[in-house]
Amino acid sequence: MNYNEAYEKLSFYGQTHLLKFYDELSADERTALLEQIEQTDFSVVKTDRNVDERGLIEPITVMEISEIESRHDEFFAVGLDEIRSGHVGAVLLAGGMGTRLGSDAPKGMFNIGITKEVFIFERLIRNLMDVTDLAGNYIHLFIMTSDKNHEATTEFFAEKNYFGYDPDYIHFFMQEMAPAADYSGNVYLEEKWKLSTSPNGNGGWYSSMAKWGMLDIVRTNNILWLNVFAVDNVLQRIADPVFIGATKLGNCVVGSKVIKKAAPDERVGVMCLEDGRPSIVEYYELTDEMRNAVNEKGEPAYNFGVILNYLFHTNELDAIVGNSLPLHIVEKKIPCLDENGEHINPEKPNGFKYETLILDMIHMLDGCMVFEVERKREFAPIKNRTGVDSVDSARELLKMNGVEL
Ligand code: UTP
Repeated sequence: MNYNEAYEKLSFYGQTHLLKFYDELSADERTALLEQIEQTDFSVVKTDRNVDERGLIEPITVMEISEIESRHDEFFAVGLDEIRSGHVGAVLLAGGMGTRLGSDAPKGMFNIGITKEVFIFERLIRNLMDVTDLAGNYIHLFIMTSDKNHEATTEFFAEKNYFGYDPDYIHFFMQEMAPAADYSGNVYLEEKWKLSTSPNGNGGWYSSMAKWGMLDIVRTNNILWLNVFAVDNVLQRIADPVFIGATKLGNCVVGSKVIKKAAPDERVGVMCLEDGRPSIVEYYELTDEMRNAVNEKGEPAYNFGVILNYLFHTNELDAIVGNSLPLHIVEKKIPCLDENGEHINPEKPNGFKYETLILDMIHMLDGCMVFEVERKREFAPIKNRTGVDSVDSARELLKMNGVEL
């Protein structure tokens, strides 16, 4: 793209200020800026945060722990067979910025050990290997990174020898970036030759897998199920045979692990039905009526929170990959340049980033196996340094589960 074409594109989106320092740039910097302008989708930039109207929300049927226990062996056998047949792959979402943790390195590189080094990535690989050791075969693990952490992540895995996992079964791919803008919708510059960008949320994982040729691996190996999980839950059970078996035997195309909420106002998204399809309402969308609703057993009707551990059937993903997901506008601290081209590292949020979310994919699918797990055994998220969902709370939970730190 040449200067005139870039100017035309930017004029259309009201972003010509991005060329403000163009005259000062070297030839290489000019090329880099024009290339980025060409590749950037400015149509995502919005300032109107009005959330779309929700449909009719109703409680969803949950397979609770007591039922899972009574059918454990049946589910386990079916799930293990799927793993041994090579039908199961896993997707680690590690493209986030982890800003709340406040470390510049990728979140998975964070050392949660006390007397020795225990990295988040290491814990996740160990958890996965509990299953692959049992099954007697590796499964393909796809790791999503972003422009901001790809190199650091891939180098770290290589340096640590993939924590004992077979590197032939580990595949890295990058998610897309989206421009970040001020409250009036003006995209920020991070350098005079570079737009401020941020990873575009965890909703684009399957289309990014497609762009990076990962679906060839999925198809060649006849992978039918992808277990997608977040980097920050160090008690995450990955490729859990019981979960896989229950989802398959329930004839569901998607499964979602859930936990009983610790309190009615716990900040987790809650599984529900929306206009008859599986869906998730965020904690801030729960009305008093929903908070107080009870089911036929007299228990809270919206009581099961998602932990970002989903199982998708790949045929269904192929069917929905082209469908556009709603865009979420998130307030954020965005490093940028001021009027004079000086760097600013803001201490408070100064604008918006734009994200699509994996939870919106669930609503596009028909039946969902909502599968309860015990939170003390499977949920230790690390979002913050201290307090709720922190390094401290995760350490306690890991110790309770017999993990040496
Ligand atoms: P979070 O919603 O906690 O976001 O991610 P985050 O960016 O990691 O952390 P904060 O909000 O800046 O502190 C939930 C999961 O989704 C992944 C994260 O890596 C994590 O596993 N994620 C999030 C992505 O892979 N890409 C994204 O763009 C955002």
